[in-house]
Amino acid sequence: MARSTARVGNRCHPPFLLLLAQALGCLLSLISLQHHPVQASAWCTALVSAHHDVLAAYPHAHDAFTQGLRIDPHNASRFVESIGLRRHSAVRRVEIATGRVLQQTASTPTELFGEGVAYRAADDVLLQLTWTGGVALAYDGTTLRRLPEKDLRYAGHGWGLADVTWGQLGACVAEAAARAPARRRWKQLLRAASEGACGRYGAACGADNDTALFLMSNGSATITVRHPRTFEVLQAFPPLRHACFRQNMALLNELEVVHAPDDALELWTNVWLSDHIVMLDLCAGLLGDADRLWRRYLQLHDLGMETSTTASGEPVPVRPANPDAVLNGIAWHPAHPQHVYVTGKLWGRVYRLQVPPAGPEMPLVAEEPLLPQRPWHAWESRGAAVPTRPPALLLVVMGLAAMGALGVTVVWLVARNYRPSGAVRAAPRREVDASPILDAKNN
Ligand SMILES: *[C@@H]1O[C@H](CO)[C@@H](O)[C@H](O)[C@H]1NC(C)=O
Ligand SMILES: *[C@@H]1O[C@H](CO)[C@@H](O)[C@H](O)[C@H]1NC(C)=O
Ligand SMILES: *[C@@H]1O[C@H](CO)[C@@H](O)[C@H](O)[C@H]1NC(C)=O
Repeated sequence: MARSTARVGNRCHPPFLLLLAQALGCLLSLISLQHHPVQASAWCTALVSAHHDVLAAYPHAHDAFTQGLRIDPHNASRFVESIGLRRHSAVRRVEIATGRVLQQTASTPTELFGEGVAYRAADDVLLQLTWTGGVALAYDGTTLRRLPEKDLRYAGHGWGLADVTWGQLGACVAEAAARAPARRRWKQLLRAASEGACGRYGAACGADNDTALFLMSNGSATITVRHPRTFEVLQAFPPLRHACFRQNMALLNELEVVHAPDDALELWTNVWLSDHIVMLDLCAGLLGDADRLWRRYLQLHDLGMETSTTASGEPVPVRPANPDAVLNGIAWHPAHPQHVYVTGKLWGRVYRLQVPPAGPEMPLVAEEPLLPQRPWHAWESRGAAVPTRPPALLLVVMGLAAMGALGVTVVWLVARNYRPSGAVRAAPRREVDASPILDAKNN
């Protein structure tokens, strides 16, 4: 085999071409093994990103360390807002148009750090999570009076909280009915959710506008589904995997249930320390369908970049130069289902966005960096280096194989005293030996 190759080699030098091809392979692998900045490939972008239109901007109190936002269940011209930080945590009722704080609870106990807020319709209660306190604080939904007897306990961290009504869940019923395993899971969930609640609330239970479930985040990739009255975990979503990198997300924060223009029920979640909102398929989450959980995401780098003025006329950046002043707070408007309000911690404005359409007509946003990958703290959402993507395993293997092959070929060629020109080399020892290999080559 080696001999015949060598013989033909007098004409077109296949070992030399082989060497060249391998060197080229090595070079290409080395180039591709370089860590590239993570850019959205056209495929990824088409799959996940959504364009957004800012419809309006409203004043927002610069002192509000926003941890939860929701349209006021009693008046859709107002927000209910949860404010964090120890010794400052509270729940506020805020006029949307002016940003005026109309009502505020007494500050929560000093050691507690307020987080997401949600509403339970049946008994008109607002529940405010606490970060590490293991308790959701209950307030009267009308007077904002504390109702300690209605507090709810949970294990682990509390980050984001959203409520979903029986009426909204109707969107998932047809889907659940179509597949047997999903149907079983669905029935178990609904039975668990209505048990107890119905006994207690009688006729109100199961009404379209009654709260069916709470959805809660805790900074991990997993959203839990909780009983509306006892807060026990009825189920967990499959952990959210990034649509492009296929690895688990983390730091899911503020949550809000949003009706997408294609009638899908979405669960929007802020990713802490980023300018991104991931829009999950709520029914897929409830039905345990991991593949369909990630729908798309919104990239909101442009929000809060302008300056606004304080009450005394001072110009101040909407998004203060404070690492904690990150995007947080999503409120969906039931009377204007195509509108969503978003803001950030300590931001001077709330923005009203048009809920972007879903589906293939979604505009492509080229060249945008994707969601940050861990280590998260090395990543800054704006102005800092774009994170780099580790090379794919396949590339590493191919690169190593190319280098290995190159090495083996070089050794092989050296060992058999290869001469690319095919010219007779005056090697005295070989002349004396008159080896068959030399004979073959020289003829
Ligand atoms: C709802 O809130 C808006 C803004 O604060 C207020 O002007 C309006 O009177 C309120 N409506 C009711 C019925 O209270
Ligand atoms: C739910 O709807 C019923 C009937 O329309 C109404 O009486 C009730 O006040 C509503 N509850 C809430 C919390 O909106
Ligand atoms: C978050 O929730 C998941 C799922 O219930 C749980 O496994 C994890 O321990 C929780 N983490 C924290 C910090 O609470």
